[in-house]
Amino acid sequence: MSEDLKATVRERYGQAARKVASGGEGACCGSSCCGGSDDPISTNLYTAAETAELPEKAVLASLGCGNPTALAELRPGETVLDLGSGGGIDVLLSARRVGPTGKAYGLDMTEDMLALARENQRRAGVDNVEFLKGEIESIPLPDNSVDVIISNCVINLSSDKRKALSEAFRVLKPGGRFAVSDVVIRGELPAAVRRSMELWVGCVAGALSEQQYQDMLRKAGFEDTGIEPTRIYELEDAKAFLTGSGLDTDVVAHEVTGNVMGAFIRARKPN
Ligand SMILES: C[S@@+](CC[C@H](N)C(=O)[O-])C[C@H]1O[C@@H](n2cnc3c(N)ncnc32)[C@H](O)[C@@H]1O
Repeated sequence: MSEDLKATVRERYGQAARKVASGGEGACCGSSCCGGSDDPISTNLYTAAETAELPEKAVLASLGCGNPTALAELRPGETVLDLGSGGGIDVLLSARRVGPTGKAYGLDMTEDMLALARENQRRAGVDNVEFLKGEIESIPLPDNSVDVIISNCVINLSSDKRKALSEAFRVLKPGGRFAVSDVVIRGELPAAVRRSMELWVGCVAGALSEQQYQDMLRKAGFEDTGIEPTRIYELEDAKAFLTGSGLDTDVVAHEVTGNVMGAFIRARKPN
């Protein structure tokens, strides 16, 4: 089951990457990815000053639900790892913040996303960046090697979130920060939403509740955990992200309004 889920996620995000690479409008594969050109989850996350310094295709490929580098307080010389780096938008922004003495890694399991990200790196002309192929549940970096983990709307897609969080903990240096944007649930989601593969790929069905996120982070060993909402999805937003799910959009949108949010999740590995 979890391998099927992973294969579907890889296939859909591969489609999204190919669409952007070939000059298509909007990154998304229909309603069934996080984000897209008019998706309430992914629109208007970055300032004009941030996007002005990026290649157009890095911006078009943005499928996140927040702006983790704006909140992560990155410092010159730090090593940053972006889990599920997609077209590379947050890796390129991080690379500028950590400067030439720092390094920004992007990790993604989807070959077409990696190809797009590497092309965006070339266009941006930054050297302190490396895109790695791999899964967030098995990070191809040594223990205690990273100052800051960022991620943007990816952990909700994982079918083994415990493993993803324990891997994040493993690669962080003592005192290292977890500074992640993700979809988070307040209260309960209807069972039909939780069962929907389309809505899993769309970053909603697999999202953790606030309590589950905090519990999993603490079980992985993190301390100073916190979750701050950055965008709470209202009725029209819910209708938009439910479109194409096969569920009765008008009914289900009312049930989920206010329960689904983009949030910034922070935690620290003890010294
Ligand atoms: C919603 S997109 C977000 C991309 C990027 N963070 C952004 O903000 O534009 C999810 C990305 O995570 C990748 N991904 C999903 N599950 C993954 C996993 N288990 N391991 C590695 N990458 C994964 C997908 O290939 C895709 O590029």
